[in-house]
Amino acid sequence: MLELIHNDHKNLAILIQLLRERHAALVEKGEVNYSLIRDVVDYMQEYADKYHHKVEDVVYDYYLTHKCQQSSEGNKLSVEHKKLELNTDELRTMLDMILNDCVIPLDQFADKLGEFIAMQQAHMDYEEQHILPELAAVMTKDDWQAVADKFPVCPGATLEEAKATAQRLDPLFGQQVAEQYKDLAKRLQTRNECVSV
Ligand SMILES: [Fe+2]
Ligand SMILES: [Fe+2]
Repeated sequence: MLELIHNDHKNLAILIQLLRERHAALVEKGEVNYSLIRDVVDYMQEYADKYHHKVEDVVYDYYLTHKCQQSSEGNKLSVEHKKLELNTDELRTMLDMILNDCVIPLDQFADKLGEFIAMQQAHMDYEEQHILPELAAVMTKDDWQAVADKFPVCPGATLEEAKATAQRLDPLFGQQVAEQYKDLAKRLQTRNECVSV
């Protein structure tokens, strides 16, 4: 299960880096590709917010309930996920307005995009540096199976089934790229071949 979360983070890091490059092009040269940014934001809403964060919430909730001595502060990860979701919704709303020909100053959009990138990166760093190592240290194989039993999409799944579900549900990095993300997938592939997007 940890491997699944790490793998999602690896993929999300690729998208955050892509956004960082687009943000730099916007700030330095006024260049902007709104539809590319919208595709990334759509993916974050469709997969990260609705699936990846939900898995983390279930795992962390289990940890707080069963493995943590001081669990009085509540599920702060879940609180942070809600803040990220809200921030993503705000960026998506701004993109919709721009794509519907509303006039939004470029610097206002650049600020919002910069804030989004910073929040996503800080959140992922926090999980990678603090949460996941702690989980790896204290969770046993039985604990991970107990977490898989509470899996958000298919409760009662084995660990293998949980992994297969993640692969099936990921519309960009999963088994099959959804029609909506074909352009983005092509961009990422081109980028992998060291051609600038
Ligand atoms: Fe998270
Ligand atoms: Fe995460």
